[in-house]
Amino acid sequence: MELPFAESYRIKAVEAIKRSTRIEREQWIKEANYNLFALKSDYVFIDLLTDSGTGAMSDRQWSAMMLGDESYAGARSYYNLKDTVKEILGFNYFLPAHQGRAAENILFSAIIRKGNILPGNSHFDTTKGHIEFRQAVALDCTIEEANHTQLEVPFKGNVDVVKLEKVLKHYPREKIPAVVLTVTNNTAGGQPVSMENIKAVAALCNKYGVLLLIDAARFAENAYFIKTREPGYADKSIKEIVREMFSYADMMTMSAKKDAIVNIGGFMAFRSEELWKSCKKFCIMNEGFITYGGMSGRDMNALAVGLDESTEFDYLETRIRQVEYLGLRLDEYSIPYQRPAGGHAIFVDAKQVLPNVPREEFIAQTLGIELYMEAGIRGVEVGALLADRDPTTRENRYPALELLRLAIPRRTYTNNHMDVVAVALKNVYDRRDKITKGYSITYEEPIMRHFTVELERSE
Ligand code: F0G
Repeated sequence: MELPFAESYRIKAVEAIKRSTRIEREQWIKEANYNLFALKSDYVFIDLLTDSGTGAMSDRQWSAMMLGDESYAGARSYYNLKDTVKEILGFNYFLPAHQGRAAENILFSAIIRKGNILPGNSHFDTTKGHIEFRQAVALDCTIEEANHTQLEVPFKGNVDVVKLEKVLKHYPREKIPAVVLTVTNNTAGGQPVSMENIKAVAALCNKYGVLLLIDAARFAENAYFIKTREPGYADKSIKEIVREMFSYADMMTMSAKKDAIVNIGGFMAFRSEELWKSCKKFCIMNEGFITYGGMSGRDMNALAVGLDESTEFDYLETRIRQVEYLGLRLDEYSIPYQRPAGGHAIFVDAKQVLPNVPREEFIAQTLGIELYMEAGIRGVEVGALLADRDPTTRENRYPALELLRLAIPRRTYTNNHMDVVAVALKNVYDRRDKITKGYSITYEEPIMRHFTVELERSE
């Protein structure tokens, strides 16, 4: 008999989580103005709000923390991380930052001017925020297939190269400071980008003299999909694939809270010394001196170990198979989600799960609230609330998809927790005919409103 699959680690420290009653949760979510971000974490049983900074560090990472060098300038921990970035990602120049958006802020301060265009595949919301804040445009050129949740496409995060070339042809070179390639494509469902697509995008960048920026938050998960799905890569190690992926890029930003499995941290890396130099002053102004950039020495040490661990096949197999497991459980109840299962999350297709809620009443948010009330599970809306208003018309933007993202923290929950999530969703799905009303906004910020929005039940 074939042996069943099991995790490639065992558990050394645990953290208690609390159950609650439906009556308590109804009260708590009301007090939170129906914004899941406003809930105390103690009010959450299974927290799938994000996979960012929520993973469990390894014994190797914790022990590396004890060896942190906390010198303000020239710390050993900085050189250790710099060497690891060079070895694993292949970049000679690097600047630390306290998290991904801080790296974006520094890099974009150096390269973006008002009126610029940055095409790419579904820019993450802080990336889009940093671009739009500078009165530039984040232009989404993701392949059309990504908008159809039931299509099984192996690299659904890809850039539509025909669309991209049209953009590169249309605008003068000086208007486009970079193409932003996000691996995996978070917004489209944690969907990977193929090596073939990375190469094709890089070739277009070369042809039009535009820089290629990789937003690398989940680069290791992307490499796993290349290894397991793309012809020609099955026999390559994850580390070899990672080196190849980055060999096509001019620079990268990294939220180390994802695929470097740390609770806080980030960096940017560059092929050219010139780019590195143009970012240094922004690092010093906003983050800290260039050899710590907002991180402590111990954080940098843990990050370096995390980069090494996340680029090991066994770790990635355990990780991705857990996400797949949740997908398979949802299949048993015919609950529709962005197929195939993503790298870090399952994105439930809220329009199909709650067909009677009008889009003006925020379908995916409504599903998120229902799931929380059902079982204390917290997901996050990836829909009209997150899409913000159009910067010019100030009208609500309604994206093609309304998704509820269930992001799975790394090495944190067991498959029993996934079973609870699946059954809770089934219970909501079973009473979908009765869920006809959503929520309306009572307070919102002009940009990135979903973090702080306040809502009330629609009557
Ligand atoms: N890029 C991508 C693709 C991301 O998913 C994130 C963060 C960032 C950049 C920004 O990094 O949080 O370290 O400042 N994503 C988190 C999420 C918050 O929940 O998906 P950060």
